[in-house]
Amino acid sequence: MAVNALPAVDRECCTSCGLCVEVCPDRILLPGEDGGINVMAEHCMGCGHCYAICPVEAISMPGLIFDLGLKTLSPNSGVQVSERLAIEPLLNLMRSRRSCRSFKPDPPKLSVLTDLARIGTTAPSGTNSQGWQFVVLPERSDVVALGEVTADFYRRLNRKASNPLYRFVARLFAGDRLARYYHRYYEAIESALSDWYENGIDRLFHGAPSAIVIAAEQSSSCPQDDALLATQNILLAAESMGMATCLIGFVVEAAKREKHIAASLRLGAAENIYSVIGCGYSALSFKRFAGRKAINPRIIRISGARAKRNFEQGRREMKQQKKRTSLVLYSFGFKHGVPVDANMVWDVRFLPNPYWQEDLRPMSGCEQQVSDYVIKSDQGEKFLTLLKPLLSFLLDSEGNLEQKNHRFAIGCTGGRHRSVAVVEALRHFLSDQDVDLEVFHRDMERKEAD
Ligand SMILES: Cc1cc2nc3c(=O)[nH]c(=O)nc-3n(C[C@H](O)[C@H](O)[C@H](O)COP(=O)(O)O)c2cc1C
Ligand code: SF4
Ligand code: SF4
Repeated sequence: MAVNALPAVDRECCTSCGLCVEVCPDRILLPGEDGGINVMAEHCMGCGHCYAICPVEAISMPGLIFDLGLKTLSPNSGVQVSERLAIEPLLNLMRSRRSCRSFKPDPPKLSVLTDLARIGTTAPSGTNSQGWQFVVLPERSDVVALGEVTADFYRRLNRKASNPLYRFVARLFAGDRLARYYHRYYEAIESALSDWYENGIDRLFHGAPSAIVIAAEQSSSCPQDDALLATQNILLAAESMGMATCLIGFVVEAAKREKHIAASLRLGAAENIYSVIGCGYSALSFKRFAGRKAINPRIIRISGARAKRNFEQGRREMKQQKKRTSLVLYSFGFKHGVPVDANMVWDVRFLPNPYWQEDLRPMSGCEQQVSDYVIKSDQGEKFLTLLKPLLSFLLDSEGNLEQKNHRFAIGCTGGRHRSVAVVEALRHFLSDQDVDLEVFHRDMERKEAD
């Protein structure tokens, strides 16, 4: 939303030079018949250009602040780190940058423009992807060509938006975006289009003789942020080099919807345009900094009991996660080979063998009768009574910090009855323990199992 800060003009002071009228991007200031300046709206975007350019300080901006209220910096003090730009000149540079809407016709040298693009790469980028792309339009004719495709897009958009039936249908399918556009922008765009096509006046690029387009690959982690940070570095560098710039958001909006605009700049299908900077030299010079809306940074101290609880819980969970033990438990048959990947092998061939029971032979250790036959035998019960605490001890990572990934193999003759029954009994025993458990039976399906 625009800043709601209307300027006030002191008519006593005003010399009717007309500079404020010239720089006002919204045409809010107009010369009256008596030579005084009239403010033709109830509010404006508050860019402060009129205030910043008036040679006799006849304009005030009551809604804005001009002293940033910095507590640690002033032109005569501040931390000075050797080899570093002092903060005061840097801050002055930041505050002197204005969006230029009155360019001189001469373009900057191509080498200067390409250097500016390279300076853009000093910005940070998400995961250091540096997936940005800079396109330099060195001549006014290039800028106009980009202006043509953009104007064409808005001409078609305005035609649709001005049609009430089209707005109605668009609302049904795409919400009220087009209606909002119509109410907010239609008239201003119509007037800018008429200037572009009929009067040869460029209210899109404001006559900028060259431009830099900043795009980024969609596959980067934060393409838009990367492109905009590079953009800001370029804006500041240009200011420092005595150049003038203006961001041209209208082209970015058009390029979002019409892919051929990016293609006309030889950008790939996966590269989106995130900013367009009109570049050149200013025909006007501002006398002072523009004001800004006052802000109140919110001071929050998250140091209460809740934060402490969250921290403790996080620490506990982290510890648990780190310690979590994983166990691969499997059965096998010795006659098919002893496994080489197990770090512990138990031989259960001493347990009663269901193979010799005709009714149990065709079954596997997964079935209840076989399991009862093996596990509920005297040896089976004694063995499991000893094995279970041993297993718990081995899996307890407190006592075995070195080893967290176990592979335990349990073998009988053919790998179909006894070893399977023991593994299933252990699976049941471990089901409520804090272990990532994976179970399989290596040889259970073999025909020649015992
Ligand atoms: C994302 C973005 C898009 C902008 N698009 C335009 C634009 O299309 N035309 C224009 O004249 N100014 C554009 N501006 C410039 C703003 O109007 C300007 O930054 C604001 O009024 C404050 O003035 P200053 O830049 O001189 O401090 C854009 C600024 C931003 C950040
Ligand atoms: S603050 Fe900006 S938009 Fe408002 S009147 Fe001044 S120049 Fe125009
Ligand atoms: S810039 Fe100042 S002196 Fe010039 S017309 Fe505007 S208010 Fe008057």
